[in-house]
Amino acid sequence: MNTEVTVTEHILLHQKKSPHATGQFTGLLYDLILSGKSIAFRVTKAGLLDVLGGTGEINVQGENVQKLDDIANRIMLYRMERCGALCAMSSEEEPDLIRVRPEFPHGDYILIFDPLDGSSNIDVNVNVGTIFSILRRPEGGSGEVTLDEVLQPGWKQVAAGYVLYGPSTMLVLSTGQGVHGFTLDPGVGEFLLSHPDMTIPEQGYIYSVNEGNRQNWDDAAREAVEWFHTAPASNGKNYSARYVGSLVADFHRTLIYGGIYMYPPDRAKPNGKLRLMCEANPLAFLAEQAKGKASDGRMRILDKQPDKLHARTPLFIGSARDVEAVEAIYAKHGR
Ligand code: AHG
Ligand code: MN
Ligand code: MN
Repeated sequence: MNTEVTVTEHILLHQKKSPHATGQFTGLLYDLILSGKSIAFRVTKAGLLDVLGGTGEINVQGENVQKLDDIANRIMLYRMERCGALCAMSSEEEPDLIRVRPEFPHGDYILIFDPLDGSSNIDVNVNVGTIFSILRRPEGGSGEVTLDEVLQPGWKQVAAGYVLYGPSTMLVLSTGQGVHGFTLDPGVGEFLLSHPDMTIPEQGYIYSVNEGNRQNWDDAAREAVEWFHTAPASNGKNYSARYVGSLVADFHRTLIYGGIYMYPPDRAKPNGKLRLMCEANPLAFLAEQAKGKASDGRMRILDKQPDKLHARTPLFIGSARDVEAVEAIYAKHGR
């Protein structure tokens, strides 16, 4: 493990090659990393502080708000509004677009985030994470940011990543020049480059899906999952099933080992469950940067035009060949 390169050094080295080689963009990443460290500090003390359980509120997605969801959301909003690089933010936990208030310095970037992904796992001490997507305000935009300026397809992301709070805290980041993983050294409080140039194997041996929804899937989704029950995996054996129930953790495993994560649409959720802008897009950006693929079964995730901030999408993401196998099944089933 190369423990000598800090995330700061890495960003500065890559900054030279990046079209977003501005101090503003670098400052944005620093403050995001700081927010991630602050959330990690709260998450790792979750059993000790009075932060387990729900707040009793229901969020804009119709889900129970966990106390740590709320804490993570507030850390992100507070820190990032002050970073000077943003004009607007959107959080999974907030119904509307959040415009940076006039008393804070404004910048050209838009931050979309899921403050705590996998929050139903918090109380059982299973991995959770913060997922983020960074967009640029379209050229020529001035005055108050409009919703249309924010509703951009994922291919326009300038950076994306996540902080995974697991046995160790990891930052996985792409600024469009590959995917790089950093592990937090808690002794010095710094992320160190531990996983340079992460790539997803072309085919994997793990499929990941909540099969409890099977009776509500349509024929294409059933056939796609059935394919992984019977087709030979990359190791010549059967595919193995793994499902954490934290997208960020299931994706992280997929990034390292390959295979596929699936959240198909079902009768109760015709557009699937996952949020396009704060979950699917950033992970799709990472998947493609790591030579994998991300699809909704019929089209590339990064080509989807969001029609609202909290638009949802089916998601099939991971090894290129595994995602292509699903797309072939969907193509056969037509629209
Ligand atoms: P969040 O905790 O941010 O609301 O996201 C939960 C998501 C995602 O992390 C996970 O993969 C998925 O919900 C699990 O859903 P099911 O319980 O329906 O499988
Ligand atoms: Mn989530
Ligand atoms: Mn969440």
